[in-house]
Amino acid sequence: MAGKDQGTAEAASKHPIPPGFENALVSPEAYKEMYAASMADPDAFWGEQGKRIDWIKPYTKVKNTNFNFGEVSIKWFEDGELNVAANCIDRHLATRGDQVAIIWEPDGPETPAKHITYRELHDKVCRMANVLKDQGIQRGDRVVIYLPMIPEAAYAMLACARIGAIHSIVFAGFSPDALANRINDSEAKAVITADTAPRGGRRTPLKANADAALLHCKDSVRCLVVKHTGDQTTWTEGRDIDVLALMGAASADCPAEAMNAEDPLFILYTSGSTGKPKGVVHSSGGYLVYASMTQQMTFDYKDGDIFWCTADVGWVTGHSYIVYGPLANGATTVMFEGVPTYPDAGRFWAVCEKHKVNQFYTAPTAIRALMGQGPEWVEKYDLSSLRVLGSVGEPINPEAWVWYDKHVGKGRCPIVDTFWQTETGGHMITSLPGAIETKPGAATLPFFGVKPVVLTAEGGQVVEGNGVDGVLCIGDSWPGQMRTVWGDHQRFQETYFQQYKGYYFTGDGCRRDEDGYYWITGRVDDVINVSGHRMGTAEVESALVAHAKVAEAAVVGYPHEIKGQGIYAYVTLMNGVEPTEDLRKELVKWVRTEIGPIASPDLIQWAPGLPKTRSGKIMRRILRKIAENDFGALGDTSTLADPSVVDDLIDNRMNRG
Ligand code: WTA
Repeated sequence: MAGKDQGTAEAASKHPIPPGFENALVSPEAYKEMYAASMADPDAFWGEQGKRIDWIKPYTKVKNTNFNFGEVSIKWFEDGELNVAANCIDRHLATRGDQVAIIWEPDGPETPAKHITYRELHDKVCRMANVLKDQGIQRGDRVVIYLPMIPEAAYAMLACARIGAIHSIVFAGFSPDALANRINDSEAKAVITADTAPRGGRRTPLKANADAALLHCKDSVRCLVVKHTGDQTTWTEGRDIDVLALMGAASADCPAEAMNAEDPLFILYTSGSTGKPKGVVHSSGGYLVYASMTQQMTFDYKDGDIFWCTADVGWVTGHSYIVYGPLANGATTVMFEGVPTYPDAGRFWAVCEKHKVNQFYTAPTAIRALMGQGPEWVEKYDLSSLRVLGSVGEPINPEAWVWYDKHVGKGRCPIVDTFWQTETGGHMITSLPGAIETKPGAATLPFFGVKPVVLTAEGGQVVEGNGVDGVLCIGDSWPGQMRTVWGDHQRFQETYFQQYKGYYFTGDGCRRDEDGYYWITGRVDDVINVSGHRMGTAEVESALVAHAKVAEAAVVGYPHEIKGQGIYAYVTLMNGVEPTEDLRKELVKWVRTEIGPIASPDLIQWAPGLPKTRSGKIMRRILRKIAENDFGALGDTSTLADPSVVDDLIDNRMNRG
């Protein structure tokens, strides 16, 4: 999307820093100085920044990293010891024990919000940690969290961190199959879930999903259930545990384990271009330093501010910017159970007004959806508390940017367009409110310590200078970087370090404009971005071919007005199977149950044949063009085994928009 509007947007002048940011944490001069220092001497720079968190045993070494394929190894603060939960809670107790740590806003506005102070957070987390210990969970064990956006999700994360267990959150929108795969891949000892999850007035049967998943897991896996709505669920004696009841009876005293900086804090599964989702492993020390620094500086977060990131804790954005970053900084963080359009399209703004939110961080897909409902929904509310607006998850199209700026920010709130990934732990390329002028649609400049490098897609030559395009790589490590793929370090190296030797490859294309600003142009691999959620096309394909009536499937993305990208599936049916509307619906439903609603194909085209090379490789470039309704320039089709299939696909294309 950014690509299309790029020419005009780039030519447009920069948006100056609005008045009121003269005393921002980072000034334009400080940005330049600090960035230069971070590049010149990463050891000195991060050695200093590492002090923003408390260490049980201070580190003496800072950076020890190697990007060479075959010997990739990433370590930061490697001899330091700390506890992440103690950093997010205990160290604030003396000065801000009675300050609100989490404001919980429920799905329905009629239910009262909860205000959880740091002292209460300490109490809950210690109790939950003791419940986990009583279930035999020890340091290093994995715990899967499959919860809605309720305070217990944060308690569970921090309880794991407190005892040194590694959490792996599975987004509550994933299916039982997806949940089972993640429990098994991480060899988790327990899953923490809830009875049901209210969202937009409807309820997802989480416990029933967990029951279905656990049929495919070891019998020893415990199921800890948060009775959130009180809805009836089935109960397996000996396996299912009522967490809240046990927390009530547990001790509120639980010492925080001293963890090594490099001990994993969490695993988070994410989609790639091939194979099954990978377990991205993040560290304790480097991750926390990076999440806390980016949360503070990117949003110009100051003591007393109310910070709201609308993501779900099931995604990395929720990990870094609802829980770890804000709490490490002693912030007040808002956690919202609902959706932007329930009970109506004014909900986000109602919540901003109600809790006097200062920093608001959301995804372009939400902005586009709300934009379509008209500005009157925004105008109804007093948004004068807002100071900084953020965007994340996909390129923001300039039209949505301008709407966000005008109607939500009233032209006085800088917009930080934060480019980053599950793998990066925190922001990589982003503007800073008081330091970097913005351009609608540009992620702008790198964060401290981040060295973007533009390479030619073919050949991987470094592209110097400005006004250039290429693929985006990163030249050196930063503390928030993922450390490995759970159980498969080789896959980690192959995915990120093999194609362009000596660099971390993001999988994104980018442009560096005349001012040196970075514009992310989207994925260059077979990953698509649907409503800011990452989806591997291979995953959707393997779900489709698992259906008895499907012979073959190829999935690509296509531009979608609200979602950014939609899922377009070409399906070849088994011989003799009738292509009907009912079958189309059945396949959509099938993918929903195999993966989850976020993977539902938007368009399914019956394809009697797929364009293949003579060696049998599907030519996705052609499928993408047809799905984009842009088949004027299909390029060279002469290498196809049967060029005539292309005409049929064009004639019967589904997206004539
Ligand atoms: C895309 C989400 C443009 C990008 C934090 C990246 C973005 C993928 C932006 C990671 C942005 C994220 N501008 N593109 N501001 N933020 N992306 O792992 O393609 O869910 O590679 O992490 O989202 O998605 P993930």
